[in-house]
Amino acid sequence: MRTYQNQDLIVYWKPENCIHVANCIHNLPSVFNKKNRPWIDINGASPEEIIKLIDTCPSGALSYSLPEGSRVDPDLGKGPGSLHYRHEAPQVEVRLMKNGPILIKGPSILYDESGAQLKTGDAFSLCRCGKTKNPPFCDGSHRY
Ligand code: FES
Repeated sequence: MRTYQNQDLIVYWKPENCIHVANCIHNLPSVFNKKNRPWIDINGASPEEIIKLIDTCPSGALSYSLPEGSRVDPDLGKGPGSLHYRHEAPQVEVRLMKNGPILIKGPSILYDESGAQLKTGDAFSLCRCGKTKNPPFCDGSHRY
């Protein structure tokens, strides 16, 4: 997991969870831009704008928390994109993405066909197109 921080916000990015629907790039390009290094400029928009965008991240690859002393309204920092929200969520959400993967959000354990524990976490994207190079996880190959 990679982190990007300023005095008001910490953004976390889990690249292995990203399903490349580009929700962040299309909706807040001043912060999320693949042409830049690093690709996340945490100072490219207000922390409130970044929080609202991350709350819509479909895969859970992006999340946030508020550092001590943050000037952001603490209630705003408790949205569905909050790092802690996902840990406290009482249920698991399963969503089918149009022409894309199955998203599973919420504390989960993924087992393989033999019953061996494959992965634990708060968000998984499972391939349903059959094109992934990292089965059973979506790697964005469905775009092609
Ligand atoms: S659904 Fe994304 S790679 Fe198959």
